[in-house]
Amino acid sequence: MSEKVVDPSNLSIEDLLHEQRKFPPSKEFQSQANINDESIYELAAKDPETYWANWAKELKWSQPWSKVCEWTPPHAKWFLGGKLNASVNCLDRHVENGLGNKTAILWEGEPGDSRTLTYQQLLDEVSRFANGLRKLGIRKGDRIAVYMPMTPEAIIACLATARIGAVHSVVFGGFSAESLSDRIQDASAKLVITGDFGWRRGKKVLLKQAVDEAVVTCPTITNIVVLKRDQKITLADDQCYMVSGRDVWWHELVEGLDSVCEPEEMDSEDMLFTLYTSGTTGKPKGIVHTTGGYMTGVYATTKWVFDLKPDDVFWCTADVGWITGHSYIIYGPLSNAATIVVYEGAPDAPDKGRFWQIVEKYKVTIFYTAPTAIRAFMKWGESWPQKSDLSTLRLLGSVGEPINPEAWMWYHKYIGGEKIPIVDTWWQTETGAIMITPLPGLTTTKPGSATKSFPGISAEVLNEKGEKVEAGGGYVCITKPWPSMLRTIFNDDQRYVDTYWSKWNKETYFPGDGIKKDEEGYFWFLGRVDDVMNVAGHRIGTAEVESALVDHEVVAESAVVGKKHDIKGEAIVAFVIVKEGITPSEELLQELKQHVSKKIGPIARPEDILFTADLPKTRSGKIMRRLLRDVADGKALGDTTTLADPTVVESLRKKYEAIEE
Ligand code: WTA
Repeated sequence: MSEKVVDPSNLSIEDLLHEQRKFPPSKEFQSQANINDESIYELAAKDPETYWANWAKELKWSQPWSKVCEWTPPHAKWFLGGKLNASVNCLDRHVENGLGNKTAILWEGEPGDSRTLTYQQLLDEVSRFANGLRKLGIRKGDRIAVYMPMTPEAIIACLATARIGAVHSVVFGGFSAESLSDRIQDASAKLVITGDFGWRRGKKVLLKQAVDEAVVTCPTITNIVVLKRDQKITLADDQCYMVSGRDVWWHELVEGLDSVCEPEEMDSEDMLFTLYTSGTTGKPKGIVHTTGGYMTGVYATTKWVFDLKPDDVFWCTADVGWITGHSYIIYGPLSNAATIVVYEGAPDAPDKGRFWQIVEKYKVTIFYTAPTAIRAFMKWGESWPQKSDLSTLRLLGSVGEPINPEAWMWYHKYIGGEKIPIVDTWWQTETGAIMITPLPGLTTTKPGSATKSFPGISAEVLNEKGEKVEAGGGYVCITKPWPSMLRTIFNDDQRYVDTYWSKWNKETYFPGDGIKKDEEGYFWFLGRVDDVMNVAGHRIGTAEVESALVDHEVVAESAVVGKKHDIKGEAIVAFVIVKEGITPSEELLQELKQHVSKKIGPIARPEDILFTADLPKTRSGKIMRRLLRDVADGKALGDTTTLADPTVVESLRKKYEAIEE
């Protein structure tokens, strides 16, 4: 069980408590919405199995299920006996329905190159690549690591993997070679699909080079498929070296291959993918999602939360390396036959108006991004969005961390023109699909609140003892299984049970988020209650950063906490004790930051490092992160009575204030 470091009733909720503004859906939006009948909540709650089965029926199954749900807490199975293939649901069935010429992907590279793929073209590409994977000996159940730039091929790689029944494990391209290696090893992956490079803020990110470094310690890897990001650019050997017999160019692999590929018939409970996410220990967890339930969850939520219509142009700005990319770039929108926008690079490349230029260029109608991005846009100023025509937008979404009311209002005013709905969607890698969210044709929104559970999802607020909180602070929990829930942690079912199903009882899912429920039953998320930080919408475990730090030869001990940050939500602060005989210096500080960046990836680079002679510990020797967090946030110190040496925190704080100035 994770150490509880935050009492949710003490979380900072001042601004939320004063938030009174309400935004009911407009009549125009309501009348055209995919769902505008309030009774659906009650209907779904009364008989969730029938409700979810009705959603599942909208997918294409090659064999119907015989039982909707089997719940042997804490393990669930959905649509038992049913057979389907995820890529068929995203591609073939739309082509069969006459949508072959509909645009599937509108892709924009960071340097301004672009490509369009219709559903027929995407099906052809996926099939050819799937044939290529089979040619390399990949079979049903094999794991494939995907470490790609944000190109259409990242999506093709996933769908082709799913087509032949293999399991993808996408690793965000910003992770280091070592992080990639850990994930490959944990999944015993056979193959890596990567690119020679991708563009990020005008710089080349050398992916293949990192893969080469990673696979040195990965004996299960038999081949590496490498996408040439740009046919006109050939990297030097020291940047991308192809090992003969092991490495193969994507374009050479698919040359001459058939664009028809028989899909593997998958059981509803066969694994679709694993995706690693941070937990409270140093070792990331491989979250396991299966086929039928996951597809049902992402299909349903895309249709209702985003009110998706055939003519929409849907842009989710996440990277496919995160769950948001899996569910709302790939599987949700494509199973709904949507037209999606995919952008490779940074929001400020070449200038801070890039996102809005893309909205104008592709006539985006639905835009889904993260609060950290919105806060950056706020800082850059409204003159940037004002330079572009955003009039095609009709719905905005937010995901990844709590959105502060100020950012919500800015989004509403400057991107939404004060007219269009915002859906603040709460969910997790583990939940697979959106769980708590407004339905834009039904819900009156309040800035900063994710509002209510999606129909068919039973979320509640519990206190430490597991008693239901009708109004007030507590922990969010889910009391019934849902189709897109994680099934286990790859190779570690005990950790699955311990992490998610042991806080109260094994029938109640514990997501690890603090929450407040107001008098009208609205949910207000307050942040994590465990040792997981949320930095710019990315989950990073304090233990991961700590173990990266102690891996450095001069570090004896470290403690890492998140501190409040205007743009990123949280920033990483590390308290470090160096070994005897080592003198802390500015150079060492920079070296340690660099070390963490190299070990985990630039997203984990600490914002501040504070050298200290001691750390505040309880008498039993546990580091008191809550106090360190107070020090980092510059708050009045919390209760120090359980500290072994209370003076430690005080002196730490003085030092911290000194480096802040
Ligand atoms: C946080 C991202 C408040 C939360 C989809 C959760 C949010 C973690 C919201 C999951 C939101 C995500 N409001 N907090 N709308 N969305 N979170 O697995 O702490 O990368 O537990 O999934 O992000 O992060 P993950």
